[in-house]
Amino acid sequence: GKGEFDHYMKKEIHSQPTALSNTIEGRVEDGEVSLEALPAGSFTDIEEVQFVACGTSYHAAVYGAQLLKSAGVRADVIRASEYESVAGPVDETTLTVAVTQSGETADTLSAVREAADRGARTLAVTNVVGSTAAREADDAVYIRAGPEVGVAATKTFSSQAVTLALVGQRIVADVPAADHPDDAEAMLESLADLPEQVESILETTDAERLAKRYIDSQSFFFIGNGLGHPVALEGALKFKEITYEHAEGFASGQLKHGPLALVTEQTPVFAVCTGGDDGKTKTNAIEAQTRGAPIVSVSPDDHPVVDAADAHLSVPDTHPVWTGLLANVQLQLVSYYAADLLDRPIDKPRNLAKSVTVE
Ligand code: F6R
Repeated sequence: GKGEFDHYMKKEIHSQPTALSNTIEGRVEDGEVSLEALPAGSFTDIEEVQFVACGTSYHAAVYGAQLLKSAGVRADVIRASEYESVAGPVDETTLTVAVTQSGETADTLSAVREAADRGARTLAVTNVVGSTAAREADDAVYIRAGPEVGVAATKTFSSQAVTLALVGQRIVADVPAADHPDDAEAMLESLADLPEQVESILETTDAERLAKRYIDSQSFFFIGNGLGHPVALEGALKFKEITYEHAEGFASGQLKHGPLALVTEQTPVFAVCTGGDDGKTKTNAIEAQTRGAPIVSVSPDDHPVVDAADAHLSVPDTHPVWTGLLANVQLQLVSYYAADLLDRPIDKPRNLAKSVTVE
């Protein structure tokens, strides 16, 4: 049941420290990743990784693909429903990774089946043991987030992103063309602190006050670049799903190519900064602010964007690879409190289903 919480979504947001501990448990030792299903050497003949996913899982896949690309591995992310038209050449040196919480999403299953028909090796990254994706793929890695009841995916995004980072490290270790990032060990070490950093956000968040302050706005923008981009997309998806308000996520530098025309004092801009390579987020947030929009920085407290911002959601300091996942927890809470203020049916938004089993 929901226990002390008003909604499953809130319970699931609050269970992220436990979910993440389970995701990581036994998988990182002495600066190395070990995954039972994927022993060392599993990927030596892989030359390209292709992620297929939908919705929130697509955003986790964008995160995972960026990590691989930054380590010199060829990687691509494809919206599963578009697979047939955009997949490009695939052969036995391709690893197609289906990222799917439920393991039952029809679009994702059909993409991964098509990839297998074209000769790709397949891997399912899923929450549900024995799901169709897990059974059909050559291998499966479980995200171990525990059952998710709320239609809006929350804890499973966090656990998927971390699992994809771990799978990515295994791939990087095997693929000859990859360059092992210098700070891989530091990155894996800081992963151990993530559960308690999520806990500290849950205890100190200002998300409810912020939701009240901006609830009457016309439109809600989320921007980020680099690893902040998938987080901005996810922040907007969650917001529109459960509040029914208009929300959009953008790559920060794209605002001036069109969306800026919508910006007024009625469009708060959530600027997701990871402390990595995200200078464009600050400059473009300020562009929006010049047109009247309030900026909400979602970043570590010492990030330069904070000085310019009208409001701030604090993200604990960690390796820049994980900052976005912590920022996402703050955005989950903003969406939750905004939807609650609007009295929406948070766990069962209209027109949506937890598992989309039709194409
Ligand atoms: C968003 C959401 C959906 C799912 C998408 C894929 O909160 O829940 O966007 O992420 O339908 O579902 P799975 O991961 O089960 O394949």
